[in-house]
Amino acid sequence: MIVCVVGLGKIGLPLAVQCASKGHRVIGADIDASVVERVNAACEPFPGEAGLAERLRAAVDAGMVHATTDTVAAVGKSDVVVVVVPVVVDDSGAPDFGWIDDATRAIAKGLRPGALVAYETTLPVGTTRERFLPMLAEGSGLRAGADFSVAYSPERVFSGRVFADLRRYPKLVGGVDEASTRRAVAFYTAVLDFDERPDLARPNGVWDLPGTEAAEFAKLAETTYRDVNIALANQFARFADAAGVDIYRVIEAANSQPFSHIHTPGIAVGGHCIPVYPRFYLWRDPSATVVRAARDANAEMPAYAVDLLAAAYGDLTGARVVVLGVAYRGGVKEAAFSGAFPTVEALRRRGADPVVHDPLFTSDELRRMALVPYLLGEPVDAVVVHTDHALYRRLGARDFPGVRVVVDGRRVTDPDLWAGVTRRMIGAP
Ligand SMILES: NC(=O)c1ccc[n+]([C@@H]2O[C@H](COP(=O)([O-])OP(=O)(O)OC[C@H]3O[C@@H](n4cnc5c(N)ncnc54)[C@H](O)[C@@H]3O)[C@@H](O)[C@H]2O)c1
Repeated sequence: MIVCVVGLGKIGLPLAVQCASKGHRVIGADIDASVVERVNAACEPFPGEAGLAERLRAAVDAGMVHATTDTVAAVGKSDVVVVVVPVVVDDSGAPDFGWIDDATRAIAKGLRPGALVAYETTLPVGTTRERFLPMLAEGSGLRAGADFSVAYSPERVFSGRVFADLRRYPKLVGGVDEASTRRAVAFYTAVLDFDERPDLARPNGVWDLPGTEAAEFAKLAETTYRDVNIALANQFARFADAAGVDIYRVIEAANSQPFSHIHTPGIAVGGHCIPVYPRFYLWRDPSATVVRAARDANAEMPAYAVDLLAAAYGDLTGARVVVLGVAYRGGVKEAAFSGAFPTVEALRRRGADPVVHDPLFTSDELRRMALVPYLLGEPVDAVVVHTDHALYRRLGARDFPGVRVVVDGRRVTDPDLWAGVTRRMIGAP
């Protein structure tokens, strides 16, 4: 079997290498020539993916993985085409299909009879059947169903641990028709291995779902659930602040009941998925009041953290405030949709002078994101902890000369190191 993976990013490249490790030849297609060049030289194009460097080297040396910018030609040689090209949201919350539409048009031009096309990018429900299927049929001149198969199978992995997650979670698959589902189940069964999971309802492996819509929905359901859960924790935290109760103790107690899985609160609800995929859901179900309210509640948290700061500090006009962490999650160098940006905005609206620190980003990188870098040891009036980087557990008042107030949005600061400074935490008395 020859497999074409379209989009050699943080998710597509590990998947390509995984297919090759199971004895299938893989052609990787990407519009970025520098990515293609690096893959063919067996150099990983991005750092931080466990096991990728060695596995890529082995696959390229064995002649099992080759990359190209010519998607049409690559698809023309392939039995299966897997698409992992991003869809983003624009400022109004609507999905922007520009890249994946381009990829789909190129795939249609190269598509050969008998091929299976499997989309893995997270999509609004209905996109595979209503948008891509007609594009593939029209562009190829082939009959959908009769001449080629189409399926949807979400990526349920975290970048950094893709190989482990591919084994850990069932691979969900839904086709546009029964034959497509069967083809896709056979394909993923051939390229993946799974851990034993006695805790699951069905044996761990490839799980067929009734149609592409169910598979698309499953991915949005899991990410939207997390957003709603975090919003609930954030709302509880705000009430806990008003009631003088420690929300972490409350959540710990509530979660001792098996039906409670309450998340922890925080300013940072960022990352690739959590702020974006609930909007994909809302785009198709605008009546989903619970989902919309949750998204709004989470989006309010940066401004709420700054309100807490102002309540403790007083007028912030002219105050130099350092935001600790721009990454959306501790230890991960990724700032997409990070809560640090609205936190900086909220500080500016109050007349403060916000500066930003993150051990994973250089000063130049911070400047390119329109942020003002801060170096530890410089004088500052107040601190807002946005990201749970390990370093921030070890920092204290002496690292921030002049600091009067610290607002800890992730509950990582050590009270002993902040003695003499007013310390406020989200959801704490
Ligand atoms: N990153 C994650 O943690 C994660 C987790 C789960 C699911 N996903 C899903 O995977 C998708 C891809 O994420 P990623 O992190 O791999 O993205 P990425 O930005 O790392 O990589 C995307 C790649 O696609 C290429 N590309 C863009 N347009 C193309 C085209 N027309 N033809 C061929 N290649 C094209 C880009 O050059 C880039 O190399 C996401 O949109 C998301 O739906 C990502």
